[in-house]
Amino acid sequence: MSAPRVRISDIARHDGQTVSIAGWLYNIRRSGKICFPLLRDGSGIIQCVAVKANLPEELFEALKDLTQESSLIVTGKVRAEARAQGGFELDVESAEIIQRVSEADPYPITPKDHGIDFLMDHRHLWLRSKRQAAILRIRHEVIKSIRDYFDNQGFTLVDTPIFTPAACEGTTTLFEVNYFDEEKLYLTQSGQLYNEANAMALGKVYCFGPTFRAEKSKTRRHLTEFWMVEPEMAYADLEDVKALAEGLVVYCVGRVLENRKAELEVLERDVKKLESVKAPFPRMSYDDAVKVLQGKGSEITWGGDFGNTDETLLTQDSDRPILVDRYPSEIKAFYFQPDAENDKLALGVDVIAPEGYGEIIGGGQRIHDPELLLRRLKEHDLPPEAFNWYMDLRKYGTVPHGGFGMGVERFVAWMCGTEHIRECIAYPRMLYRTRP
Ligand code: 4AD
Ligand code: MG
Repeated sequence: MSAPRVRISDIARHDGQTVSIAGWLYNIRRSGKICFPLLRDGSGIIQCVAVKANLPEELFEALKDLTQESSLIVTGKVRAEARAQGGFELDVESAEIIQRVSEADPYPITPKDHGIDFLMDHRHLWLRSKRQAAILRIRHEVIKSIRDYFDNQGFTLVDTPIFTPAACEGTTTLFEVNYFDEEKLYLTQSGQLYNEANAMALGKVYCFGPTFRAEKSKTRRHLTEFWMVEPEMAYADLEDVKALAEGLVVYCVGRVLENRKAELEVLERDVKKLESVKAPFPRMSYDDAVKVLQGKGSEITWGGDFGNTDETLLTQDSDRPILVDRYPSEIKAFYFQPDAENDKLALGVDVIAPEGYGEIIGGGQRIHDPELLLRRLKEHDLPPEAFNWYMDLRKYGTVPHGGFGMGVERFVAWMCGTEHIRECIAYPRMLYRTRP
């Protein structure tokens, strides 16, 4: 009878049993009559123990000389071993080598240090490293927790189109697409405008997909293609939006801490920093934020947008994210509802993460008045024809409403403590990076 095929992540349930694991050779240690292949299967890594005396000679020699990333299926007995990484080892009984990687053309990523350009050029292989696998698993946890958060509160997922005829976040960062003969379309910057229509149909909705920005910024926080989750609620104001955003962040951080301890450890993430992320987050108006920044030596003046350094300065003394609201309308998108007490201010909010990770969420309350919206479209030089359907939402039962967008990679970068956002998506698209 053949041994059951198991995954390394489930190995604890098979202590004492003979199982088989299908994977790749991560690394190997040899010492004469015994060798220790480290086998990875995508769910984890386990140390195997191959003893010459217990195996056919040919097999032992083949294992001993096996090259990095060769594919193989190992059968052996699971043994608890307190000193082993993961707590278990596998005593090899037999093995089938599927492909031996040739010495003449060895796996290019070795345990030594490689430069970032080399690693990015080999991104399709780099993903096999412990660190990259840990980041991808944390990303998976973040995405799943985002969905659970909204699903558990009665939001309906309604996805919005990628090809769009109009700009949502300003005309300077649009990627243009030739759409057959007739027209120019753009890759979406945000699903928000369609989300607003969906919220009028279903009350509470979210969309979750890739978004695109032709941003020429070469910073450690910018991608040209990134994933964004965007909730939108009918009959909601700025305070509702803030509460929803705070709740989302707290929930997702909690899930990562609960379910991804091992990955955080691989990344050497200081989890104490994440454990202090609890509600309530400090709240601050843009006015006050400018004063705080000036007090800390920033050159910002009222009316200016925060740069990366400003965001870092602002959260410097905070152990959790900060909510900043009521920005000058001038520096915000066309759709923000003005503050009833000062119409130069937009009812928008940004959530700024600590430790220098910057803005992770942007959103607010939308204009619900048709005349004001029309005026804003004109002020922003946006063609009203392209927004006819959007204007309809203000004609047929308009209500106060709002929502936000959270960038998945920004959030993951913060969770993982990565230096740069490029490691937080499998195949990053940036100003100078479109391959592989
Ligand atoms: O602040 P932004 O531009 O807001 C919107 O797009 C709204 N329409 C969302 C809404 O209200 N439904 O983007 C939202 C978030 C940012 O806070 C950031 O986390 C992320 O998207 N983001 C980026 N992430 C990576 N690279 C970029 N170039 C990003 N631009 C924005
Ligand atoms: Mg923003």
